[in-house]
Amino acid sequence: MKQAIYPGSFDPMTYGHLDVIKRASRMFDKLTVSVLNNDAKSPLFSVDERVKILKEATKDIKNVEIDSFSGLLVDYCREKDVHIIIRGLRAITDFEYELQTAQTNRKLSDDEVDTIFLTTSLEYSYLSSSSVKTIISFGGDISQFVPEFEVPLINAKYSEKRK
Ligand code: PNS
Repeated sequence: MKQAIYPGSFDPMTYGHLDVIKRASRMFDKLTVSVLNNDAKSPLFSVDERVKILKEATKDIKNVEIDSFSGLLVDYCREKDVHIIIRGLRAITDFEYELQTAQTNRKLSDDEVDTIFLTTSLEYSYLSSSSVKTIISFGGDISQFVPEFEVPLINAKYSEKRK
């Protein structure tokens, strides 16, 4: 069975992430989308909330599983016996960090884990979770960037923050 892991923060999940998930799911028998549990960041959504959002967004894609992980990604890959990591590449600015991380993961895994990059569809090449957060923090409309069901969830988080 061909398997891959698509890891990320997904805070919040955007149409850019969904685009990568849909395309990668067609290339593998099973795709695990996994949310990093990172105590160092102060996220908008908790890991459980992000897992729930990803589950809702991918409920019609049968070969996609949603999970979360802590620690090193290569250890998680080993645990799941998966040898391919999927990452989306938007622009040249992503490339340096992604190249460094992919090579580090390859080294850390003794060449057992490789990274495959999917260039994001042009319509989402500008889109990032940070820009969605900036737009919403200034009261802008994010409905073009995230699925409809996610808009009120993100709005609610910002209303809480403003209190
Ligand atoms: O969506 P993001 O924030 O760009 O995702 C980054 C992620 C989660 C893929 C990356 O930070 C990660 O894998 N973190 C776990 C620690 C790790 O293994 N880092 C790579 C070796 S330095």
